[in-house]
Amino acid sequence: MRLFVAIALPEDLRARLARLQQGVPAARWVDPDNLHLTLRFIGEADGGQAQDLDAALTQVRAARFALTLAEVGRFGQGRKARALWVGVAPALELDRLQRWVEQAVQAAGFAPEGRKFKPHVTLARLKGDPGSRLDDYLAHHAAFRAEPFEAREFVLYSSLLAQAGAIHTPEAAYPLSTGSDAVP
Ligand code: 2AM
Repeated sequence: MRLFVAIALPEDLRARLARLQQGVPAARWVDPDNLHLTLRFIGEADGGQAQDLDAALTQVRAARFALTLAEVGRFGQGRKARALWVGVAPALELDRLQRWVEQAVQAAGFAPEGRKFKPHVTLARLKGDPGSRLDDYLAHHAAFRAEPFEAREFVLYSSLLAQAGAIHTPEAAYPLSTGSDAVP
């Protein structure tokens, strides 16, 4: 199965993001139910690997923290723009959690992630040249900033690539503590 580790977004925030999902003809908008913040893409894993991963992720100790989605941006420049996303206001706790998750993933036997962590929530994938409509869109939403929400858990998802789009299924959730039992 194809796996990734992510933070789910509250429904009201997904609804707010869904309102950003219009105005770029080249965009294939992500189903609002699927909007999430990826901590680590794992890729294909067999049952044994998934079990090892679950055991390692269970060991991650971190406290709950506040997250604010802010700014919109793209991956890829000009005609090569390939994704449209909402960013995350700097959050040390998120970076720390991501490092612990990365350590857990490696402890479970997976190869290190080579790319630097750039937290984002993908709103759309772009097909073809988005043209000037994308620049207009980014300028229009430059000041986007959502209400903060509290990250209380992270989730191991499986992802099935179906014709109608990806189907993400939570396989396991790992709670973040209320503070007193967390590693400082
Ligand atoms: P993205 O949102 O930036 O596309 C499930 O596919 C999640 O894993 C997505 O959030 C996706 O990030 C992320 N991901 C990271 N690397 C990936 C890869 N090589 N293939 C597919 N998804 C990847």
